[in-house]
Amino acid sequence: MINIKFPFALTLSVCYAIPGRVVSVEGKTVVVDYFGETRKAHAVDCPVRPGEYIYAQGGIIVGQISEAEALPILAAWKERFFELKKVDAELSSASTEARGALGAAIKKAMAGEALSREDMLAVLSTRNPAQLETLYFAANRLRKERLGNACCVHGILEFSNHCRNDCHYCGIRCGNRTLKRYRMDAEEIFEAVGHAADKLGFKAIVLQSGEDSFYKDEMLAAIVKKLHERFGILITLSIGERSRECYRRLYKAGAYGALLRFETTNEALYSRLRPGKKLADRLELIKWLKRMGFVLATGFLIGLPGQTAEDTANDILLTKSLGPDMHSFGPFIPHPITPLASAAKPAQEDVLKAIALSRLADPQAKILVTTALETFGPGARAAGLLAGANSLMINTTPPKYRRLYDLYPGKAGTDEPLEDAVRKAVELLRSLGRAPADLGV
Ligand code: 5AD
Repeated sequence: MINIKFPFALTLSVCYAIPGRVVSVEGKTVVVDYFGETRKAHAVDCPVRPGEYIYAQGGIIVGQISEAEALPILAAWKERFFELKKVDAELSSASTEARGALGAAIKKAMAGEALSREDMLAVLSTRNPAQLETLYFAANRLRKERLGNACCVHGILEFSNHCRNDCHYCGIRCGNRTLKRYRMDAEEIFEAVGHAADKLGFKAIVLQSGEDSFYKDEMLAAIVKKLHERFGILITLSIGERSRECYRRLYKAGAYGALLRFETTNEALYSRLRPGKKLADRLELIKWLKRMGFVLATGFLIGLPGQTAEDTANDILLTKSLGPDMHSFGPFIPHPITPLASAAKPAQEDVLKAIALSRLADPQAKILVTTALETFGPGARAAGLLAGANSLMINTTPPKYRRLYDLYPGKAGTDEPLEDAVRKAVELLRSLGRAPADLGV
């Protein structure tokens, strides 16, 4: 939205969301028009009527705006919307012809056929740079063909780095006694979300923390309720394994999204790296969250020590089978104050391959470029978006806490003002021809 002058408060504005016009309503399902393209969205607690204008995120209507406000925004977007499509079409026009097993896997995916495990392993074993390029082209093309150029942008607010778990890969594990711990109180959270939502136009915020029992269910519910009532955003919880009662309560308070990775399908690896934890329990909870109606994001880590290509293929297949609204997976980055300090970091290529393969295996997926991918350098996000991904995360944690949310070293943008991060993200999306429409359901 950069370059576009807004008639009201959104001057800088990430606001990678545009208002849609309600075409029809059937029960809680609403058909929304974006410049002639229609999408479906759920009206969970926001009754709307045909002709009204709304914002949707993750397939959920998060806010309404008046026609008088919506029309100038749409007018400002209209021309750019079609220009972006042209840029995207150009960027995804390269040849997707490849020889051998990779070529066969690409052909299948393009034809809408499911990939076999052998196809997946063939993709993951690709090393030849020209073949890799073709793989990324193919995934990008598939993304464009199936989902168009829509891209959603989520803000992430890391509100506490206290954690009762001792995961071997994670820098905020309770065993890390050198880390200064912090907790944001309700007011600080409200202020940070308010800044992101009101000043910068974010429509989706992930509230993330370690597993911190300081925040009792009722405290979290009060925080969520206030955020939900005040801001038109999709609130996603990334708070780990809390009770079903807690999640139920938070959904009721207005948090309709949940982000919970299963980390790895390799059970032995899971138990070794997450002492005292069982993969089955985690998976049960993830499945329950989905059944409960949460907009679900899940995924895994790539490049954990001992992980194989078979594991990654299984991780991608499991992610798909969980039916998430968003795939969230990223590289494992060794942290110096963990038992895995001397483990090797995966290559950027491993992550890009996983993105491309996830796209081929699950063409309709929303695939996130995670913040951990950005540790590979300034070009990594663009590379992810050109290898099949179609969502971005921007860190909205207040600068004084950002360094302390030390999951892994080398986190991108820890010193960057949020406004700059937003400007860069918007410029990146524009340069790649990605438009701010919610993909809907
Ligand atoms: N490298 C990359 N990602 C990590 N996470 C935790 N530690 C690391 C690390 N060292 C991820 C986990 C967790 C999410 C919040 O952060 O996948 O689910």
